Amino acid sequence: MCGIFGCVLKDGNAAPLIHAALKRLEYRGYDSVGEATLFEGKLYVKKDRGMIDEVHKVHNLDDLPGTIGVGHTRWATHGAPLEVNAHPHVDCSGQIAVVHNGIIENFSELKLELENRGHTFQSKTDTEVIAHLIEETLKANPSLSLADAVLETVKKLEGSYAVAALSQREPDKIVCVRNESPLVVGINENAIYCASDIPAFLPLTNKAVIIDDGEIVILSLKGYEIKKIADSSLVSREPKLIDWSPEMAVKQGYPHFMLKEIHEQPECLRNTLRVQEHYIDLMSSFLDRARECFLVACGTSYHACLASSYMFSKLAFLATYPVIASEFVEQHGKSVNIDSTILAVSQSGETTDTLAALNCARQRAATVLGLTNAIGSTLTRISRVYICQQSGPEIGVAATKTFTSQLSVLAQLALGLAKKRGKISQDEMDFLKEKLKKLPATVETIIQTQEEKMKQIAKKYKDAKGFFFLGRGISTATAYEGRLKLMEIAYVPAIAFPAGESKHGPISLVEPGFPVVFICPKDETYKTLIGNIMEMKARGASIIAVIEEGDEEVRRLADDYVEVPKGIPEVLSPIPFVIPLQLLAYYMAIERGHTPDTPRNLAKSVTVK
Ligand code: AGP
Repeated sequence: MCGIFGCVLKDGNAAPLIHAALKRLEYRGYDSVGEATLFEGKLYVKKDRGMIDEVHKVHNLDDLPGTIGVGHTRWATHGAPLEVNAHPHVDCSGQIAVVHNGIIENFSELKLELENRGHTFQSKTDTEVIAHLIEETLKANPSLSLADAVLETVKKLEGSYAVAALSQREPDKIVCVRNESPLVVGINENAIYCASDIPAFLPLTNKAVIIDDGEIVILSLKGYEIKKIADSSLVSREPKLIDWSPEMAVKQGYPHFMLKEIHEQPECLRNTLRVQEHYIDLMSSFLDRARECFLVACGTSYHACLASSYMFSKLAFLATYPVIASEFVEQHGKSVNIDSTILAVSQSGETTDTLAALNCARQRAATVLGLTNAIGSTLTRISRVYICQQSGPEIGVAATKTFTSQLSVLAQLALGLAKKRGKISQDEMDFLKEKLKKLPATVETIIQTQEEKMKQIAKKYKDAKGFFFLGRGISTATAYEGRLKLMEIAYVPAIAFPAGESKHGPISLVEPGFPVVFICPKDETYKTLIGNIMEMKARGASIIAVIEEGDEEVRRLADDYVEVPKGIPEVLSPIPFVIPLQLLAYYMAIERGHTPDTPRNLAKSVTVK
């Protein structure tokens, strides 16, 4: 996610303070940085691609004049990480500057409309339309205040945003608005601040005012004024005292980034649903014409590929071959050819095994497509088409929110392909799209209602010497992911395999009390899965089941269970069903005294062979 910051000071220079605040937002991940200040009625802007220290070394971010300004750390979602795409963005006159965190879904049509009115754009970003819209609004009605112009502007925006705007016309104010992206205000006797997150101003004040969705806030030396965007009604809200340490604040009060990122999944899934339609359409065209299609990745990203192979098959009737990247050259290096298409999935976009597989495929003229969380990564540069999953940076080494985001994008891709191939009816398409839209709320419900239960289950099995994770159909992928999570952060040996394989060998491992986790959506495999549960139970296994709420049959068979809301379509089931498994792994790690964010022997991005 991007980070925004702004301040209005009684005296002193805003620029160095903005610089320090942006440093405290670095943990959010970014590729570019910028600042804008106002001095004697004039706007000053400095920005560039690169880390804060690098950009400061070249441009000296501290020597911008003025007691008022805004700053931004950019995590690219629209437009590569370049100086021209860094925030702040200004309007044609250079008198209005904005910084933004979020995704403006309708920016293309707004940009076209503004260009037709003569506006000239510098960047490829969605954010820049905000500055030009404010300019256009003030041109149409010069008597408007900056706040009123921002109010009019945001009513035209669709998507998520936390925006801070400055204007030479009102050099004593910062106007901020919020919808879905976080925004907080800090206040002390010498200044007032706005930021994406409390750590930005915590060393300066522990008095924070949380701004809610659909609110506009005007900052000045007189204080802050909050209004509802819908009807401009005033909102009265007192500051809260924050008693976090700066270290805790960076995790928004969560004990670990991993738990924070598990909880961030509803927001990420909402953002993932804002992936640009035309890139889904373009990528599905490449998949449609492929003679053979490989899904190539490592670790958790491979599990996303495995799950998506069921989606592509069941929805679009497309056979795809999930391949673990480190095996791709051995397995397919000789056969891959110009008629092959490789869809590589990599959160970092830099995993060496995955890039090596793609290198081999490209040498044999295959088509390479990419799904990643990092715009500007190597994967985006070597892909014919890539999609950014827009999960925001993931700090915990174990992939959680990026996994469910990958699944959401892959499901959208499978739906787009099914539509293109005429394999799905309009009703089925509408039904699945509706279900996909409801997933953020479903995941929110699971976390809120089942976290405590998962914590107890982790306590109960914390000394277990091993686990099985079993599923059938698409739930096999969910089982593999649950197993990887438990192994990599709780260091518990675990095995995952299709439940139908038990009798072909692994069941010999089962002794009384051996924990076996079953993923049990009520899909076509449910009845057969019941049989697998019985065969494990008959050998004394302890059955831990992830079930649909109200599933009495499995509930009676299980020693322990957690419930997810019913009615999730089979092809989307890995997204809700993996949430309890992420929580199990996290709380098992805590119970066993480990550090979930930085598990031993592991790196966030594996850039070695
Ligand atoms: C996931 O929890 C692991 N940290 C690891 O398996 C990871 O998924 C794998 O290394 C692939 O990374 P990528 O998605 O950045 O390519």
